[in-house]
Amino acid sequence: MVAGADPRVHSGVSDFVVVANRLPIDMERHPDGSTTWKRSPGGLVTAMEPLLRRRRGAWIGWPGIPDDAADISVDVEPIVEDDLRLYPVGLTSADVAEYYEGFSNATLWPLYHDVIVKPIYHREWWDAYVRVNRRFAEVTARAAAQGATVWIQDYQLQLVPKMLRILRPDLTIGFFLHIPFPPVELFMQMPWRTEITEGLLGADLVGFHLPGGAQNFLVLARRLIGANASRASVGVRNRLGEVHVGFRTVKVGAFPISIDSSELDQKARNRDIRRRAREIRAELGNPRRILLGVDRLDYTKGIDVRLKAFAELLEEGRIKGDDTVLVQLATPSRERVDSYRALRDDIERQVGHINGEFGEVGRPVVQYLHRPVPRDELIAFFVAADVMLVTPLRDGMNLVAKE
Ligand code: ADP
Ligand code: G6P
Repeated sequence: MVAGADPRVHSGVSDFVVVANRLPIDMERHPDGSTTWKRSPGGLVTAMEPLLRRRRGAWIGWPGIPDDAADISVDVEPIVEDDLRLYPVGLTSADVAEYYEGFSNATLWPLYHDVIVKPIYHREWWDAYVRVNRRFAEVTARAAAQGATVWIQDYQLQLVPKMLRILRPDLTIGFFLHIPFPPVELFMQMPWRTEITEGLLGADLVGFHLPGGAQNFLVLARRLIGANASRASVGVRNRLGEVHVGFRTVKVGAFPISIDSSELDQKARNRDIRRRAREIRAELGNPRRILLGVDRLDYTKGIDVRLKAFAELLEEGRIKGDDTVLVQLATPSRERVDSYRALRDDIERQVGHINGEFGEVGRPVVQYLHRPVPRDELIAFFVAADVMLVTPLRDGMNLVAKE
């Protein structure tokens, strides 16, 4: 079947397509050349995966490792897993350095998180962002069935809505941003602000976690493309704003995501998980209080200030190292980006300092694991803990808090 405006684009078979930078599973390549898959890091996957499994559909994303030999053409064969069709989009090491580590995570991520660290702007990174967004749009154009619904995720793919609409005007296109959307005064420092705004306005519906993000975007759309956007306001009835772009109306709203709480609740009552929780307490020396932090190792999560506060409580004698343990589980993240390297060094120095001052032989007061923990083990940690420490400086929707 031939679809849309471009006669060379053939539509695929999937009626519901999620497009995200990462697939829900990451490929791991081992020294012997073999490969295995494991759950991808981050809240996006936590929120989206249960939903997609129920709906059946396709997921288009990067398998998580650079691959210079990858076929980066748009004819991607899906991996079929249960009812889910996974379309791996290859990224070369240059794409990873410039599009993922560069523009996505050293330009957009800090800018959208209120410039906690200084965003870096490079023309080459922007060029890579455009190039990779186009690749995602082309793969999606081929995977989506005629008239399908496509749901594009997050800051890495903000140009895809417009690119995809040009390729496939028959599709219904949604976009959801999983991180905060900054106030217009900050966004205006982005040299490619108009391109990004127009990219997002290619969708039929643009979603944010919070009304503040949606408002920021509406103000921006009015300001930057005012001539084409005749009205941008938040309606009272359905709390959706509207932007008129030519003959199209783009709806804008806040749709806070959550977790599969009943599944988590069920698991937390599971006998094996409860037994493991008791074991964890025993392994930690059955302290009176266990404090737990669970985060990707990211400067937005406030892990450093959390440790500082813990050290102060110990110094002031308000808690004792012999009856309190802080467990910090930290998933490695974006390890080649400078600001993440600096954060890791800082945190590991702080952990060493606290244990040096307040720990005993065989009994550190901070237990720090720099690795992802399997899901059931993580739930056992949640069950074992007395106090959760969730202290982000800025976050889209912190799912650890909900867990
Ligand atoms: P982000 O999306 O910025 O990483 P969220 O708090 O929204 O932050 O989501 C993080 C998700 O990753 C949660 O589901 C959390 O349980 C999971 N997670 C975080 N750290 C670890 C870890 N060390 N091991 C396993 N899962 C983790
Ligand atoms: C956050 C972002 C996601 C991202 C995840 C993990 O949740 O909103 O888009 O996938 O962090 O980060 P990573 O860079 O490892 O994909």
